[in-house]
Amino acid sequence: MNVESLHDLFEVELRKVYSAESELVDELAVLADDAAADSLDDTRMREVHEAFQDLVRTHREETEEHVQRLEDAFDALDLRPEERSIPALEGLIKEKELFNNVVLNDGVRPVYYLGVARNVEQLELTAYDRLLRIAAHLNLPQEVTEALAANREAEADALRAIESLAEGEDVESLLEAMAGSQPLE
Ligand SMILES: [Fe+2]
Repeated sequence: MNVESLHDLFEVELRKVYSAESELVDELAVLADDAAADSLDDTRMREVHEAFQDLVRTHREETEEHVQRLEDAFDALDLRPEERSIPALEGLIKEKELFNNVVLNDGVRPVYYLGVARNVEQLELTAYDRLLRIAAHLNLPQEVTEALAANREAEADALRAIESLAEGEDVESLLEAMAGSQPLE
């Protein structure tokens, strides 16, 4: 393998991560709306919905920043950013859409959506780790590696926040509230 091939690999991976981030700007907005809690009276249930929505909306704003950083990186590398389809991400979104059609009480939905968000962030974090590992062997402009590292850190933070909500007491209370509630109509 020569250094040109390594550059090609870096470019392929950079385009993948750019495509995923760009798509997620829209998809995270949809995910936050999916977890709407307007119909819920139980505060234990509302708390998880609202915490989840806050988290996803905040990360959506961060994702817009990531896209901008990546576009600047393409610029610094004299490349044109283009979006392509990412089957792994499309699959997660498709699965979520299928789930949306399942008739289910709104109260339990965020437990599922937290799983989706976690999978998405894990996918992104892995992609950034791979990119940074390749980048370490290339003589890239410093701003490019710094942009990737900054995005990677934000993904790791988002993943930690999702995991702490998913494994925390608010979800436990929600599950308790569901277990104690009347059978669903
Ligand atoms: Fe992300």
